[in-house]
Amino acid sequence: MARAVRKTTRGRAVPKLAKVGRGELLTLIDFVRYAVSRFVEAKLAFAHGTTDPVAEAVFLVCEALHLLPDQFEIFGHACVTAAEGKTLLDLIHKRVTTRKPTAYLVNKIYMRGLPFYVDERVIVPRSFIGELLESHFGGDGEVGSLIDDPTAVERVLDLCTGSGCLAILAAHHFPNTMVDAVDISKGALEVAARNVGEHELDERITLHRGDLFAPLGANKYDLIITNPPYVDAEGMAALPPECRAEPRLAFDGGLDGLDVVRRILHEAPNHLTPDGGLLCEIGRGRELVDEAFPELPLLWLDTEESEGEVFWIAAADLG
Ligand SMILES: C[S@@+](CC[C@H](N)C(=O)[O-])C[C@H]1O[C@@H](n2cnc3c(N)ncnc32)[C@H](O)[C@@H]1O
Repeated sequence: MARAVRKTTRGRAVPKLAKVGRGELLTLIDFVRYAVSRFVEAKLAFAHGTTDPVAEAVFLVCEALHLLPDQFEIFGHACVTAAEGKTLLDLIHKRVTTRKPTAYLVNKIYMRGLPFYVDERVIVPRSFIGELLESHFGGDGEVGSLIDDPTAVERVLDLCTGSGCLAILAAHHFPNTMVDAVDISKGALEVAARNVGEHELDERITLHRGDLFAPLGANKYDLIITNPPYVDAEGMAALPPECRAEPRLAFDGGLDGLDVVRRILHEAPNHLTPDGGLLCEIGRGRELVDEAFPELPLLWLDTEESEGEVFWIAAADLG
């Protein structure tokens, strides 16, 4: 397909998509195929709830048509109306030209099967901690739980909560838990409040605005979960446009990426109950963290799509 290129104000080349003729695309699968072709052609990045162009296209088409992602299999061969087709083409066009993740364009993302509202005030949820709560904390896919009894977990802290996704997943996973969730960003907390309300968890999740542990006084927790900013300066300079649409504050971990992680490790012992523990995501910085904290017996955990990007440490081992 012929493709013109124009420049944005930032100087980035943006493909100008050729017009699609009436009746050229009929079914949901036609639109998914078209989207995948345009996404690949434009060399988009996929890391925002989907990890490849097909999954992103299916997500875009289903959301725009108010279908659940797993309903694509049922309706893939169904025709779309002219109005729906226009909506889909507009969205595909926006995804390619703005480079914003689809989640921002449709204000929605699913994590562990639950829907979350998202917009540019928060990073698009994709933390590995959601999966680890299920696999390592007494869930169905248990592989040796890191805590004795999930029903005995009474207080959880989600530091750097963003959209509130991990606080909400924790509240679902630990049925008898009250959750505190902290973020420094006013905008992020507005999004988190919306999600907490939509999940009807206002009674169990309290949102706090502030710098890490600062708004929590002397509170102690059975479990602290955190997906803090951990991208180093080199990584910040190389972020793809999709990530540059997200809040910088959500990524920037200082020169070596560990500015916030160091503070969390330093302060967490004051906020853990004796049998508690800290679950912290740090991305690809495992070697650096091991070097910086050789005295700590960090347990590095794997998920389906990651190796050693999250560590667990029991309160007793944090000193
Ligand atoms: C990587 S995002 C994680 C968001 C969410 N927990 C998730 O997994 O999708 C990091 C969050 O930390 C917040 N943040 C950055 N520095 C902070 C600080 N010093 N204290 C509290 N929150 C902070 C940012 O505003 C951002 O929402």
